[in-house]
Amino acid sequence: MAFEENDVALDADQQMTADEEALLDELGIFGESRRKFLGQLGGVGLGALVLQVLAEEKALAFSDSETAYVAPAVENPVTVSFTVNGAKKSLELDSRMTLLDALRERLGLTGSKKGCDHGQCGACTVIIDGRRVLACLTLTAQCEAKSVTTIEGIAKGTDLHAIQTAFIKHDAFQCGFCTPGQICSAVALMQEAKNGEASYLTANVRQKTGALQLSDDEIRERMSGNLCRCGAYPNIVAAIREAHTGKATDPMAISQMEVHDATV
Ligand code: FES
Ligand code: FES
Repeated sequence: MAFEENDVALDADQQMTADEEALLDELGIFGESRRKFLGQLGGVGLGALVLQVLAEEKALAFSDSETAYVAPAVENPVTVSFTVNGAKKSLELDSRMTLLDALRERLGLTGSKKGCDHGQCGACTVIIDGRRVLACLTLTAQCEAKSVTTIEGIAKGTDLHAIQTAFIKHDAFQCGFCTPGQICSAVALMQEAKNGEASYLTANVRQKTGALQLSDDEIRERMSGNLCRCGAYPNIVAAIREAHTGKATDPMAISQMEVHDATV
């Protein structure tokens, strides 16, 4: 049987074209291995095999060139130097790149979430020079020489911010997707209250009041730009109230009416 296979192999070997020889050379099939390989081919023509392999290689090369990712050209490059979570950064990027994309795609800070990318959900909230902003509506080019704080920069090492501790205590999240934005917003909210800044619910915006003690309604109003699809609003309000007042809040003390109001 082995003798017959070798015979076939030798016959086929003798009839090989230059293309076929080149293919077997490329595949590293020489000498005895080549004879065995040709013997195993049996009645299948080597020419057909060569054509098939060449066609597959061509198809692969074609699909590679079709699907290979080509980074879009930076059409309007600008260099932006700013501080992110205390570290100086200098990025050359397209002048149209949003801060959210720069944080996530250029700096690897994926804590800020892209929920809607249209300024509607608050998942991308970060703090710039003490003010909360929506990173999806902010161009990175606007951040020259500014200081950006993301959720990754809220804690000091292993010391959590009071808001973070309160969120954990009050279970103020379920899936967690909105949480980075909620926490950044709440941290800035606490500073706004300390500064005595007015909100839509402030009765007299001309009155200088100093630091404000925020009611739950004030907290809800000031957090209304941060949506939570999981509906963790009562727990979020309880967490912010506790961090804001410094007094322990019983999450179970929130009435059903408040739960209803908070989710409207
Ligand atoms: S992702 Fe920015 S507001 Fe929704
Ligand atoms: S915890 Fe899921 S969206 Fe807010």
